[in-house]
Amino acid sequence: MRTYEYTNTLDAEHYARALRADISDGLTRTPKSTAPTWFYDARGSELFEEITQLREYPVWRAELGLLQRHAQDIALRTGARSLIELGSGSSTKSKLIIEALGPSGLHYVPVDVSADALHQASSQLVQDYPGIRLHALRADFTASLVLPTLPEDGPRLIAFLGSTLGNFQRPARGTFLRGLRDSIRPEDFLLIGADLVKTEEEMTAAYDDAQGVTAEFDKHLLHVLNRELDADFAPDAFDHVSVWNGTECHIEMRLRSRVEQRVKIRALGLDVPFGRGEEWITERSAKFTADGLQAEMADAGLCTTQLWADPHAGFAMILANAC
Ligand code: SAH
Ligand code: AVI
Repeated sequence: MRTYEYTNTLDAEHYARALRADISDGLTRTPKSTAPTWFYDARGSELFEEITQLREYPVWRAELGLLQRHAQDIALRTGARSLIELGSGSSTKSKLIIEALGPSGLHYVPVDVSADALHQASSQLVQDYPGIRLHALRADFTASLVLPTLPEDGPRLIAFLGSTLGNFQRPARGTFLRGLRDSIRPEDFLLIGADLVKTEEEMTAAYDDAQGVTAEFDKHLLHVLNRELDADFAPDAFDHVSVWNGTECHIEMRLRSRVEQRVKIRALGLDVPFGRGEEWITERSAKFTADGLQAEMADAGLCTTQLWADPHAGFAMILANAC
């Protein structure tokens, strides 16, 4: 059986500490608001994969289409022999980049918080590409990221796909981009995929599909908190809603309490009150303009080498260098 290296920087204690801090802070502020990181256990990653196939969620397919058309160009422009991918999930789209770069001898470092997603993707990739050198890294990219030692030769490509950058708010997004800029060398490249602003109807539907898959994904957070923090959330006591925030230019996934209720989170010693109709923001997903994102990146010291946009599908990919 072909193998890969695996480093887990998120031991149970580290994960629990970060989860407790975010949930106790997020559920005691107004409005209640927590990080999207906690969705992604095995079931959460599975639900995200289902979302990628939804008619209402064109984000994933739009980026796939851009990569199908431009992966060769990315390979030619970067000449990378190492690919580091943040929030790699199933690595499905990454395969297009891996194939264009040439899998034999390529270092591929998928970085994700979801151990299940990493193991599933990595075991498949080493079967599909026998010559690949794969080092999976379970890590939280919102914390400081220590990448595995890679050979110094040749440029590296750091990919951040899926518009996951949009899950960062400003000013944290700028801090994150500056951190990336400081961790790359002059010859390295950064590839960022970003979902573009569309009509409000299209954007809200993308986060509230008719089949209810996104609602299940959103409510999955409650199951995670019940399990990890010994809480007693009743998922049926909440509705999923998707709201466009035009001021901040992002979609908010929210859980709206159907009733006035108190929820016990025993591991935190919290008894959290929810008013009837009160909404808790569980994820923010920024939507960009190509110019706006390039300006944000430039502010962080990242200059565009190439921009590929699909105005019809409403998605852009930016290849950048430190400048
Ligand atoms: N890039 C993939 C997956 C996008 S879904 C694609 O486009 O298909 C977002 C991914 O980021 C998930 O796999 C999730 O587990 C991971 N993720 C979310 N928050 C994270 C964090 N703080 N640190 C590391 N990975 C994270
Ligand atoms: C991973 N992330 C960029 C997705 C998004 O669009 O914000 C997660 C997602 N949430 C609901 N649908 C998809």
